[in-house]
Amino acid sequence: MSLQIENLSVYYQTLKGDVHALEDITLDVKLGEIMGLAGESGCGKTTLCQSLIYLNPPMKYMTGRVMLNGNELPIWDAEKMNQHRFRDISIIPQYAMNALNPIRKIGPMIRDLLTSKKVDYKDRLPELKHRLDVVNLPHDVLGMYPFELSGGMKQRMVMVLSTLLDPTLLIADEITSALDVASQKAVSELLVKFLDEGCCKSAIFITHDISILYQIANTITVMYAGYLAEKASTETIIHSPRHPYTKLLIASLPKIGVKYSEKHLKGIPGHPPLLLNPPIGCRFRDRCPLAFEKCTEVPPFVEIEKDHFIACWREGSHA
Ligand SMILES: Nc1ncnc2c1ncn2[C@@H]1O[C@H](COP(=O)(O)OP(=O)(O)O)[C@@H](O)[C@H]1O
Ligand code: SF4
Ligand SMILES: [Mg+2]
Repeated sequence: MSLQIENLSVYYQTLKGDVHALEDITLDVKLGEIMGLAGESGCGKTTLCQSLIYLNPPMKYMTGRVMLNGNELPIWDAEKMNQHRFRDISIIPQYAMNALNPIRKIGPMIRDLLTSKKVDYKDRLPELKHRLDVVNLPHDVLGMYPFELSGGMKQRMVMVLSTLLDPTLLIADEITSALDVASQKAVSELLVKFLDEGCCKSAIFITHDISILYQIANTITVMYAGYLAEKASTETIIHSPRHPYTKLLIASLPKIGVKYSEKHLKGIPGHPPLLLNPPIGCRFRDRCPLAFEKCTEVPPFVEIEKDHFIACWREGSHA
């Protein structure tokens, strides 16, 4: 197993009170797995991934534990996490194109980064060059400033950078959103290639584009208002989802293989609840066509078939 998350809760501390952004998340990602993470804006996708990398204020660790390769990650201690970031677990952030230091040439910037991780640049240079070949970037980029690269080139550079030490888990947070369709496809296919080449051992891929997940993800996890709603193989989520929210989400797509964006989700009546004072029980309750009395309690996330998990009183085995 690559990643194991057990009962993880993370809030944001604000002047108005705690935002209950992540509640009781229990989730595994296997070695070799690309897990797609889906759900409406604000459901907690970035918070989940960010808390595995750098849990900085106003984010507040509440409960739970995270294991990577069988070892516990000290996610509540930003300093201790330093030794794991980039080496064991790495993220391509949502605005990856701005992640490169604008006033440093790319080669020296990578050298600084590796030095800070006690890795010799010269030792790693042959592999770095190989990876530039993999993503189709000329070796000359090492002598360039980020502004000399196009958006797509910067994106690929950040992918090379974030996987240079072969992390166990690579997180990609909406990395294709700002790209044109052709570059989106190229970048997501590269992620699969990175796994095949051993540049990372597992990945979490966040996107609003289910058609990309359909092409590259082995599994899809759907979140709703801070909770996990459903996790299963990509085939199952797309063709036979069980959670009422997943069903509506998939049904709101124009057709499989076509991109969905925020506006299509308006096909589901109502809005997700605010997480500052979230409702008790199942947070999908006021939008759910199947809600009944029991739904005033939080439904547990249970395995209803092998590798198919769901949190719903009606559809789960506890119904
Ligand atoms: N810095 C912050 N302070 C307070 N609340 C936040 C902060 N960042 C995110 N949130 C809240 O946490 C919830 C989850 O946000 P986020 O993880 O960014 O969702 P997603 O990535 O799925 O769009 C949202 O309700 C959002 O408003
Ligand atoms: S637990 Fe109840 S409200 Fe929540 S999704 Fe299931 S049926 Fe709907
Ligand atoms: Mg996000």
